[in-house]
Amino acid sequence: MGQKLAAGNWKMNGTAADLAEVEALKAAHPTSTVDILLCPPATLLSRMSDVAKGVIATGGQDCHANASGAHTGDTSAAMLVDAGASYVILGHSERRTDHGETDTDVNAKAQAALANTLIAVVCVGETEAQRDAGQTLTVIGTQLKGSIPEGATGATVVVAYEPVWAIGTGKVPTLEQIAEVHDFMRAELTARFGDTAADMRLLYGGSVKPSNASEIFATSNVDGALVGGASLKAAEFSGIIKAL
Ligand code: G3H
Repeated sequence: MGQKLAAGNWKMNGTAADLAEVEALKAAHPTSTVDILLCPPATLLSRMSDVAKGVIATGGQDCHANASGAHTGDTSAAMLVDAGASYVILGHSERRTDHGETDTDVNAKAQAALANTLIAVVCVGETEAQRDAGQTLTVIGTQLKGSIPEGATGATVVVAYEPVWAIGTGKVPTLEQIAEVHDFMRAELTARFGDTAADMRLLYGGSVKPSNASEIFATSNVDGALVGGASLKAAEFSGIIKAL
């Protein structure tokens, strides 16, 4: 398994004033045995990368599949690298819902990310209706197959399992439910990519807090977390990092 990863997704939150939280997080973790990642809005990426330099890596929250051109409002993978990023989150459920991103779109973006030496954090997850209908593993299998490009390795791709119904809701799956999906993902990825899948980090995301992080991190095939709300404040995110 690769080094464990605590990833924070700031979503559409944060301005220059919030860089104080990054300073505080750095002060709390001058060294770390786990990888720490923060993904701010694009407007803050360059400045956060300067502040974070050292123990904390930074990443984008999306990238365009193309290298450049007439794509108003979009950001290329090379631009993220230019702004200091080493990771990019792709296919987050909010992108899939708000912007209609499909597995094919996510796959193309991931190819662009890998071509630009960014590590792609590819998100998958079922809706509550899909879980209730007993379709969870089918949905996750389809998303994995469609969203992760050929040639992915443990060093270039991270997978985040985020049940849509657990994001920002305070609802968390049972540990058995998390283990079932993570064990399934490891098996699917191993069947497709072989030995390198053992190093592919599988993150859980959805209402992770310092109070539930330890038990989630102790769950089968969980190699870290993708944290939303609880990554905005250094003290709270630090509590999660310490549990990893
Ligand atoms: O990317 C992060 C996830 O959507 C989880 O968000 O921790 O606020 O539930 P949350």
